[in-house]
Parts: sequence; structure tokens; C-alpha cells
Amino acid sequence: MERLTNKVALITGGGSGIGRATSLLFAREGAKVVVVDYAPEGGEETVRRIRADGGAALFVRADVSKSAEVQQMIATTVDTYGRLDILFNNAGIEGPSAKIVNYPEAEWERVIAVDLTAVYLGMKYAIPQMLKQGGGVIISTASVAGMVGFPGSGAYGAAKAGVIQLTRTVALEYASKNIRVNCICPGVIRTPMAQRVMGDRPEEVTVRMEPIGRLGTPEDIAYAALFLASDESSFATGAPFIIDGGYVAR
Ligand SMILES: NC(=O)c1ccc[n+]([C@@H]2O[C@H](COP(=O)([O-])OP(=O)(O)OC[C@H]3O[C@@H](n4cnc5c(N)ncnc54)[C@H](O)[C@@H]3O)[C@@H](O)[C@H]2O)c1
Repeated sequence: MERLTNKVALITGGGSGIGRATSLLFAREGAKVVVVDYAPEGGEETVRRIRADGGAALFVRADVSKSAEVQQMIATTVDTYGRLDILFNNAGIEGPSAKIVNYPEAEWERVIAVDLTAVYLGMKYAIPQMLKQGGGVIISTASVAGMVGFPGSGAYGAAKAGVIQLTRTVALEYASKNIRVNCICPGVIRTPMAQRVMGDRPEEVTVRMEPIGRLGTPEDIAYAALFLASDESSFATGAPFIIDGGYVAR
């Protein structure tokens, strides 16, 4: 049975990695999917694959760190499909790797804008629509880097820890309004982002990071998002869901 029949989902960063895998899975489970990305090639390709598979999807180009573009992506979703049931704040960037003394101020601002402010903007402009409809689900992609320290990732770790705390706060603010707010904390997932960070030594990273003995796949995270998006998780709110092959458990 399709687990998201009649639901409308907006997925940011849907042109690559975790966002693409989740877009494809949600569409297979019956959702109409609005794929948002600032890179049109990847986003259009995700939509093409969904349609080829018989699903319904639309690409909207937006930079999620810009308020006007976030408002526009939500307005386009509601204009096209009539509602917004699931917002997946997933777009993100890794930023440079540098100790804090050498971390450039402009890069700090950029990483906080894309990885944290964008989540605030998504929540701020999706919730009024969800209240109008009588409910909704918000999921954000945080990271294990928001739970443990990674030297060199000051802005990224601070942003992801911010996403976890924002998730708790906003979940409490709207728990009585049938709006559930959760986040996912992935370990290392085999995506273009991870390839940029790991270079050509993924096996070394696996041994160091993942007790389960392999890197995660985008689908490992997509299935967690599917559970959180569906009514099966109706008692879950305000929580960080760790999907990391056991990394944080050590
Ligand atoms: N891959 C990992 O190991 C890992 C681990 C933990 C958390 N995450 C998080 O998962 C999320 C997805 O990452 P991924 O690994 O799939 O990366 P990815 O680079 O493969 O995909 C990210 C997508 O987001 C888009 N994007 C970036 N900035 C944007 C912006 N300002 N506006 C709109 N779109 C934008 C990119 O164009 C890209 O398509 C990110 O939030 C990332 O921080 C990834």
C-alpha cells in the first residue's frame, strides 16, 4: 500500500543525494513532490525520473537561504497542488574545513544561512499553510555533526546543532495543532557531499566512522524520512532520529 497517498511534499535539495532519493521514494509512495534546488539540472533530472516512473512532481528553483525564494516555493506548491502536507528541509552545504581561527567570516555566514536560517525560513512560511489545513509534518536534515564535535567543521556543526534545537522548540510550539516536527541525524552517507569531504578514501572513513561496516546510502535516510512523513509516526515529534550505522553510540 502507498504510505503517502494524497499527500503533497516539498523537498529541498531534491536535486542530489539524500533529497533525490527521498523525492523518488515519496513519489513511489503516492505523494505529489515539489523538488526544490538551486541547481536546476539536478532538480529537473529528479522530476524527470519521477514522471518516467508514473509519479507526479514539479521542479521549483529556489535558494533556501533567501526569504523571498522560500515564500515563493511554498506559494508555488500550494498554487499547484492545493496544499502542503510535508516539508523536508534537507538542502545543505558542508562549508570549508578549517580550525575556527582560520574559518573565514563570509563562509561562516554562508553555512549558517543555508544550513540553519533556511530551516527557520521553511518552518516560518510553511506552518501558516499547515495551520490552515489542520496539520502537517516538518522534517529537517541535521547531522551527527550536530551531536558530536568534528574539528574543522565549526559552522556546519553549530548549524546542525541549531537545527536539532529548533526542531525541539517548534515541535513544542505546534504539538497541539497537529503539526509534527522532527529531524534526522545522518552519519556518513554516500552522496556527492560526502565524496567532496572524503575525497577518494571512503573505506578509511568507513572504518573510522561506521561501526556497522559500511557507509550509509541515501535510501537509508529516505526510509527514515518516509516513516516520519507518514501517519505511522503520529506519536513522534520534537526528536532527532539518528541514522548513522552506530557512530554516535560509541
Ligand atoms: N552526505 C552525508 O554524509 C551527510 C551527513 C549528515 C548530514 N547530511 C545532510 O544531508 C543533507 C543533504 O546532503 P547530501 O549529502 O544529499 O548533499 P548533496 O550535496 O548531494 O545534495 C545537496 C543538495 O542541496 C542543494 N542545495 C545546496 N544549497 C542550497 C540552497 N541554498 N538552496 C537550494 N538548494 C541547495 C544542492 O544543489 C544539492 O542538490 C544536507 O543538509 C547535509 O548537510 C549529509
